[in-house]
Amino acid sequence: MTAINPVTDLDRDGTVAVITLNNPPVNALSERVREGLIAALRDAEADSAVRATLLICAGRTFIAGADISEFDKKLTGASLRDVQDAMDAAKKPIVVAIHGTALGGGLETAMCGHYRVAVPSARLGQPEVALGLVPGAGGTQRLPRLIGVEKALEMVTDGKPISAAHGLALGLLDALMPEQDLKAGALAFTRQLLADGKGIRRTRDRNEKVAGISPQIFSDFRASHNFRGFEAPGEAIKCVEAATTMPFDQALELESRIFLACKDSLQSKAQRYAFFAERKAGKIPGLADDTPVQPVAKMGVIGAGLMGGGIATVFANAGLPVTIVETDATALARGLDTVKSNYESSVKRGRISEEDARARFARITGTLALEDLADRDLIVEAVFENMDVKKEVFARLEKIARPGAILASNTSYLNIDEIAAVTSRPDHVLGLHFFSPAPVMKLLEIVRGAKTSDAVLATAMKLAKAVGKVGVLAGNAHGFIGNRILSQRQSAANRLVVEGASPYAVDKALTNFGFPMGPFAMADLAGLDLGWNAAQSHGETLRDVFCEAGRRGQKTKAGFYDYDAARKPSPSAAAEKLIDDFRAKKNVTPRAIGEDEIRERLLLPMINEGAKILMEGKASRASDIDIVWLYGYGWPAYRGGPMFYADSLGLDAVIAGLTKYGLSPAPLLEELAAKGQRISDFA
Ligand code: 3HC
Ligand code: NAI
Repeated sequence: MTAINPVTDLDRDGTVAVITLNNPPVNALSERVREGLIAALRDAEADSAVRATLLICAGRTFIAGADISEFDKKLTGASLRDVQDAMDAAKKPIVVAIHGTALGGGLETAMCGHYRVAVPSARLGQPEVALGLVPGAGGTQRLPRLIGVEKALEMVTDGKPISAAHGLALGLLDALMPEQDLKAGALAFTRQLLADGKGIRRTRDRNEKVAGISPQIFSDFRASHNFRGFEAPGEAIKCVEAATTMPFDQALELESRIFLACKDSLQSKAQRYAFFAERKAGKIPGLADDTPVQPVAKMGVIGAGLMGGGIATVFANAGLPVTIVETDATALARGLDTVKSNYESSVKRGRISEEDARARFARITGTLALEDLADRDLIVEAVFENMDVKKEVFARLEKIARPGAILASNTSYLNIDEIAAVTSRPDHVLGLHFFSPAPVMKLLEIVRGAKTSDAVLATAMKLAKAVGKVGVLAGNAHGFIGNRILSQRQSAANRLVVEGASPYAVDKALTNFGFPMGPFAMADLAGLDLGWNAAQSHGETLRDVFCEAGRRGQKTKAGFYDYDAARKPSPSAAAEKLIDDFRAKKNVTPRAIGEDEIRERLLLPMINEGAKILMEGKASRASDIDIVWLYGYGWPAYRGGPMFYADSLGLDAVIAGLTKYGLSPAPLLEELAAKGQRISDFA
C-alpha cells in the first residue's frame, strides 16, 4: 500500500488499483483529497500492471461533498475541475464504490467514474441548493446524462438525496453490493467488467438522454414549481437546460460561472452560515463531548392536546414507546383520534406506508392514570399553560416517576425553576420546548434550569438528534429564546394594526420578506387564547377583544382571518370591524403605513431582543438564536436568521432604524458596531 498523502492511499489487488480516501469525518473534497486523488489516478494509469481502478472511501461515508469550509477562502492547489479532467482522461475503467452518502461534489466525482456501485443503505444527492448553490463540478451536466432531464431537474432543485435502490432504477448506479462487504463486492464487479471486456464509459459522452429535449420541459418545470424566494433552484434549472442546448464543455463553463456567482451571493452566504450554525448548536459550551448521557427508551407525555399528541407522535416516529396521560376519557379519546387521523392523512399523502403508520400508532398507549408513568425514562408535560396546573402535575409526578427519570415541561413561557422547585430533583428537570406542529417543526429548545444537571442536558441534546430535531440550548427567561423574540414582534405587529395597518398588510410584509406566514396568520394557527386568561380580560388589548368575541383563531374558524372548512384563510370584515372599534375606543385616528416601515418595525425589535438575550447569557451564541428562528418560526433560510440579517443590514443601520422608531438599541449592538464587529459571530 502506498500512502499518496495523509488522506489518500493507493493499493493494488491483482490488476485493480484501489484508491482509498480517508478524510474524516465525511471525506469532504478538501485540497489534500483533490491533490491525492489526482496523484493516485496518475500512478494507477501509469502502472502497466493495472487494468482498472476502484475508488472507495474509508470511514462512515463516501465523499459528502466539496469542503464547504473552503468556500470563503481563496482556492489553492488542484481544483475539482482538475479532478474531473483527470478522471475523464483515464484510459482504464474507473469503478466507484459508494457507502453512506455521495452528496454534491461527492456524487459529481462518482459520476466522473465509468461505473458506480453502492451498498443498499447509501444515499445519493445534489444538495447544493440547500447551501444556496448549484452543483459546481459537472453535476448539472452528468446527472441528466445518466438519469434523464426530468429526474435531474427534481434532484438539483429539491436537493433531496435518493436511495441506492432508486439510483439503480434510474441508471445512476450499475449494481448494488452486499451491505457488509462493499470492497469485496466492488472488486468482484470490477474483475467481471474486465472479464467481459468492458472498458471506459465516460458520462460526458453519453448524450442520449439530453438529445432532442423540448424546451417545453423546462418552462413547464418552472411554471409548476415555486421556490419561495430561493434563487439557486432557478439557476440550477438554467444549468440543466444548458446540458440540452450546448456542447458539454461549454455548458460546464456556464455551470462554473453560475456556481461562482451563487457562492458570492448573500443567499448562499446565509445558508452556509446556517449549515455551520446548526452543527454548532449541538455543542453546549462547558460540556465535554464525553459527558455521560442517560439511556432514554421509554417515554411519557402528559396532556393529549395539540402539543402532547404531537410530541407523542415525534417519539413514536423515532421508534420509542410512549404512554400518554389525560385527565378524562373524552379528552384522551379526542387526542388519540387526532394522532391517528394525522397518521392516516400521512398515508393518504404517500409519506408513509399504512403498515408504518399502524406500527407507529401502536407505540402510543393512552391512560388516565399518572401512575402509569412510573417506569418511564423521560416524561414531557404538555398540559395547559398555567403555572398552578403545571406545579400540581410536577408535584404528583415527583412521587410517581422513578428515581433518575427526566421530567420536562413543554411550557412556552413559564419559569422552569419555579416548576422544578416543587420537586426534590430539580437537577432532573428541564424545559423541552417543542414547536407546533411538533412532528413537522425541527426545533427543540432545551431549557436549562438553574439546577439542571449536565448529564440531563447532554441527554436532551442527544435525544433531539435521535428524534430528528435540532436542539438549541436556551436559558430560563420568559419565553426562552424564540417566544421572547416573538413577543417583541407580536407587540410591534399589534401596535402597527392599532396605528392603522391592516393585519393582512402586516402579514404580507413578512411573507414578502420570505416567512411562510405573518404574525396574525401565525397567531390564528397557535390559538389567540394560548395563555389568555378569560377572567382577567377586559378588552384592553386586541387579543382580549378577539378572544372575548369568540374569534380565537383557526380552531374557532375565526380569528384575524375567517377560515373555511379546509382552513383556507380569507380577510374578515368582522375582524376589521373589531379593530376599527378598538382604535376608536383608544382614540386612534388610523394612518397609512408603508411596507418598509412595517417590515422594519417588526424585524428591528427582534434583533434588539436577540442582542439583549446574548447580553444576559440566555443564548450561548448568536447563531443559536438564528437556528431557533430558522427552525422554529420559518425565518427564510436565505436570510440566515435575525442575527445574520442584522449583519447584512449593518449594525449601524440597525441602530439608526431602532432610534428612528423611538427604541433604545441594546448596548451590545452599540458596542459591536463601535468595534466594527459582526453580531452573528458573537459567542
Ligand atoms: N464540508 C465541510 N465540512 C463538512 C461537510 C462539507 N461538505 N459536510 C459535513 N461537514 C462537517 C460538519 O460541519 C461536521 O463538523 P463538526 O463535527 O466539526 O461539527 C461534521 O462534518 C459532521 O457533519 P454532521 O454533524 O452533519 O454529520 P451527520 O452524520 O449528521 O451528517 C452529512 C453527515 C449527511 C454528510 C451532512 O454533514 C451533510 O449533509 N453535509 C453536507 C453535504 C453537502 O451539502 N454537500 C454538498 C457540498 S457543496 C458542493 O459539493 C459543491 C460542489 O457541487 C462543487
Ligand atoms: P391544549 O389545550 O391543546 O392541550 C392541553 C391538554 O392537557 C388538554 O387536552 C387537557 O385536557 C390536558 N390536561 C390538562 N391538565 C392535565 C393534567 N393534569 N393531566 C393530564 N392532562 C391534562 O394545549 P397545547 O396547545 O397542547 O399546549 C400545551 C402546552 O404546550 C402549554 O404549556 C403550551 O404553552 C405549550 N406549547 C404550545 C404550543 C402551541 O403552539 N399550542 C407550542 C409550544 C408549546
